[in-house]
Amino acid sequence: MKEQLHELKEQVMLKIKESNTVKELNDVRVAYLGKKGPITDLLKGMGKLPAEERPKMGALVNEIRESVTEILEERKVLLEQQAIQEQLENESIDVTLPGRPVELGNHHPLTRVVEEIEDFFISMGYEIAEGPEVEKDYYNFEALNLPKGHPARDMQDSFYITEDILLRTHTSPVQARTMEAKDGAAIKIICPGKVYRRDSDDATHSHQFTQIEGLVVGENIRMSDLKGTLDLLAKKLFGAEREIRLRPSFFPFTEPSVEMDISCFKCGGSGCNVCKRTGWIEILGAGMVHPNVLEMAGYNPEEVTGFAFGMGPERIAMLKYGVEDIRHFYTNDIRFISQFHRTEA
Ligand code: PHE
Repeated sequence: MKEQLHELKEQVMLKIKESNTVKELNDVRVAYLGKKGPITDLLKGMGKLPAEERPKMGALVNEIRESVTEILEERKVLLEQQAIQEQLENESIDVTLPGRPVELGNHHPLTRVVEEIEDFFISMGYEIAEGPEVEKDYYNFEALNLPKGHPARDMQDSFYITEDILLRTHTSPVQARTMEAKDGAAIKIICPGKVYRRDSDDATHSHQFTQIEGLVVGENIRMSDLKGTLDLLAKKLFGAEREIRLRPSFFPFTEPSVEMDISCFKCGGSGCNVCKRTGWIEILGAGMVHPNVLEMAGYNPEEVTGFAFGMGPERIAMLKYGVEDIRHFYTNDIRFISQFHRTEA
C-alpha cells in the first residue's frame, strides 16, 4: 500500500505540472483528492489492514494529501497570475477615441423663476412659509372673507374632496394660517406652492399651477409700501427700466384691491404682440388686507394693517422666456427643458 501511495503521489505531481489552466488544475484536484478519487478509496481500504499498521498508514495518507494540496495551491496562484498577465498583454486601449459626452442637469425654468422671486424677497427680510395643498374650505375661502355662497367663489372653480376639504385654489390660505398662528405679531412672508383649479387644460390654463403669495402685516403698513415693493420686484424680474401701473380690481380678501401691470419689456410701451398693443402686461393681483380677514385671524384692524399679493410664476416664466404653452412646464420634454441652461455661475 505504501508503494501504491508513493506512485499515486508521483502521478498527481506530474498531472499538476502538466496543467496549464486553472480549470485543468481543478479537474486534477477533483480527480485525485475528491470523494471518488483514489485517496478516498485507499482510506476506505484501510479497514482491511492489521490494526497496528493503520495509524502509520493513516498518517502517511494525510501527509501525502497535505503536500499535494500545498503544491496544487502554489500552481493555482502561478496560473492565475499568468492568466492576468496574458490578459493585460492582449488588451489594448485606444486613448485617441473621443469620450462619451456627460449630460449636465439644470434647474427647471419654473424653479428658476420661483427661486429668483424667493431670493428677492429673502433679501428684503421676508421669510418663506408653506401650507397644505389639501386644505380646509375654512382657510381657502371663509377666513379670506369668502363665506359659503359668496359669488366670488366661482372665480376659482374648485376640486372638492369632501364638503369641507378641497385642493387649495390659491396660496392665500397660507396667509390666513400664518396670521392665526402668529397671534397678533408682525408678519413678513412669501408662500410659494402648487394650487389647483377645475380648468380645462389649454395653452394658458392648467388644472395645477404655481403661485407665490406675499403678506406683510404690522403697524403703519400702507398702500405705498405695497407699491414700492412691487415696483422693485418688477424691475428685478423684467429690467430696471420697467414701470408699474396699479389698476383697481376686486378680491374679497383685500380692500382696496389692485392688479399690477408692467410696461412692456419687449416694445417699451409703444405696443407689440406681447402686450397686445396696449404697452402694458398684467402680472399679479394685490391689495390691502381686508379688515374682516385681519379680525378673523385675531388682529385688531384699528391697530395693524397689511398688504398682500399673489402671482403666477408660470405666467412670469412664459413672459420672460417667450414660452407659448403653459403645458411645456409639466411635460418634461428634454428638448424644452434643456433650453434653459444656466449661463450665469
Ligand atoms: N389669491 C388671488 C388669486 O389667486 C391673488 C391675490 C393674492 C390677490 C393676494 C390679492 C392678494 O387670484
